[in-house]
Amino acid sequence: MAYSEKVIDHYENPRNVGSFDKDDKSIATGMVGAPACGDVMKLQLKINKDGVIEDAKFKTYGCGSAIASSSLVTEWVKGKTIEEAARITNTEITAELALPPVKIHCSILAEDAIKAAIADYKSKNNT
Ligand code: FES
Ligand code: FES
Repeated sequence: MAYSEKVIDHYENPRNVGSFDKDDKSIATGMVGAPACGDVMKLQLKINKDGVIEDAKFKTYGCGSAIASSSLVTEWVKGKTIEEAARITNTEITAELALPPVKIHCSILAEDAIKAAIADYKSKNNT
């Protein structure tokens, strides 16, 4: 299967790989898995008092499309409010990376990771 140039770029030069301290209250952690293939994605967001995402990091154990999807969303969420980030859809990720149909679930993983991280942040901060 041929990967698009954007997937290869993110795969070979992933942005924002790493992690933050998950116990820090300003850190939102979303950990999701894809039942279809067993891949796992961890996305963390650093959120300021105004609800704006200042930084993001990820670790993904998975295929090239999953790594590219998570790398892409770490770039997209920076500077967004959590409400704006929650509106990022897997369709936008799929379009940006030109993912083929069999790789759509990889982009769903990234959308789910954002939502899981925001849910974690809300439960930690009682909002
Ligand atoms: Fe998940 Fe490709 S099936 S690594
Ligand atoms: Fe399963 Fe990409 S996340 S093949």
